[in-house]
This record gives sequence, structure tokens and C-alpha cells, in this order.
Amino acid sequence: MDCCERILIDEGSLAKRVSEMAGRINADYEGKRLTVVGILKGSFVFIADLMRRITLENVEVDFMKVSSYGPFTDAMDAISVTQDLDADVRDKHVLIVEDILDTGRTIAFLLGTLKARGPASVKVCALMDKPGRRLVEIEADYTGFRIPDEFVVGYGLDYAQKYRHLPYIGVLRKDLVK
Ligand code: IMP
Ligand code: MG
Repeated sequence: MDCCERILIDEGSLAKRVSEMAGRINADYEGKRLTVVGILKGSFVFIADLMRRITLENVEVDFMKVSSYGPFTDAMDAISVTQDLDADVRDKHVLIVEDILDTGRTIAFLLGTLKARGPASVKVCALMDKPGRRLVEIEADYTGFRIPDEFVVGYGLDYAQKYRHLPYIGVLRKDLVK
């Protein structure tokens, strides 16, 4: 695809890693009630692949959407829920599924919001992690790939709502960034 200067993670590597992550989740949540919470829109491809590798008996999937105002602040009040879960997560084990952990603001906000609802536990599963850009000290419990500080698209991730459909993760061409 000519929007990318190179492919960072190809389809085969994504499939293999997502299977490994699901394997760990299956082991860790055996016998428990799990609610997988996908963060829209970026996680939609990842969560579709991940869910099909989950073998737990008692698993539900739900979605949340958040918006952030301005990328240059680390203030948590700059983030808000624009679409909430359908179901109550009280006494349930919650696994937040996010496309990428970047500054950490989104996940920090979501952890605070969801922990306040009295779940049995809350953990974070991120397909990618850009540790070099963190503003909030936070780590995922399950991480797919540590990546360098470059803007990536595909496999659910966008630039200005485009490129989410690419089956791989690519580094966006610098000249396309406005
Ligand atoms: P954080 O609050 O800075 O950790 O924001 C994470 C969110 O920023 C992700 O859910 C993505 O929507 C977006 N994001 C961060 N890095 C990238 C990237 O390289 N490509 C596309 N979206 C990104
Ligand atoms: Mg996102």
C-alpha cells in the first residue's frame, strides 16, 4: 500500500502474536467471568481476532468509546466517555483491549473510570506499546509489540479515519501527515 513507507508488523506476525496473547488470557482467567472491553474504534480488528482465540466459557464482549481533546496535555479531564458499556461490570473481571498505549492518558482514564464501578479486577491488553512517549506512568498487563516512536496505521488504527482496513501495521509516510 502506498500510504506506508514500510510494513512494521505483517499479517502472519500479527496472527501469531494475537494467538499467544489469547493463550495467556485463557490461562489467567480460567474459571472466571470475564468482560472484554474493546476501546473504539482502534481496537475493532484486534478484538475480533483476539476474541476468536478465547476459549473461556464465561466471556462477554462490550465496547466503549472515548474522545480526547488536544494531544498536548496530560490532564485526565481532557478525556471523556462518548459511548459507554451496555452492561454493569460490578464483580466481573474486566480486560480493557486497546490498540496502542502511547502517552498512557487514555488507559489511565479508563482504569480510573472502570475501577470506580466495583469490578472484581481490571487489566489492560494493548496490541502495541510506544514506551518512548509516555506522559503517565502506566503499563499494560498484556502487550503484543513494543514499537518505536513512529506513527502507525492499519489493523484498526487510523490516520484521520483512514487506513483502518489494512491487514498489516505500517509506518505512515511522513509526507501524508498534515
Ligand atoms: P494515549 O492516550 O496517548 O495512550 O493514546 C492512545 C491512542 O492514541 C490510541 O488508542 C490511538 O487511538 C492513538 N494513537 C497513538 N499512537 C498512534 C499511532 O501511531 N497510530 C494511530 N493511532 C495512534
Ligand atoms: Mg484509539
